[in-house]
Amino acid sequence: MHQQSIPYKKLILVCGNIRDDGRVSCGPQGGSEYKDKLKELCKAKQLPVRVVQTSCLGQCDFGPNIMIMPDDVWLSGATWDDIDEIVKMIEKDIL
Ligand code: FES
Repeated sequence: MHQQSIPYKKLILVCGNIRDDGRVSCGPQGGSEYKDKLKELCKAKQLPVRVVQTSCLGQCDFGPNIMIMPDDVWLSGATWDDIDEIVKMIEKDIL
């Protein structure tokens, strides 16, 4: 086993889950595209964070769902108008 320290200050989970049984899920509400854009913006700012797509976070009716850890922030129903504010939340306490 190899152990190393974590090079990221924050972990951002974006649900991109797609259900094929007709139930509401984050993927069709733009979760995957949201993850891609957040990742792009964080990379452009060289933020030491990791943005990853997850499966269901359990709040499917209110997607896309985004968790910012360890900040104890859970965002639901994010729209494209919110993305700059979300990046500011991610930057908080890093820069
Ligand atoms: S599908 Fe995203 S929270 Fe359930």
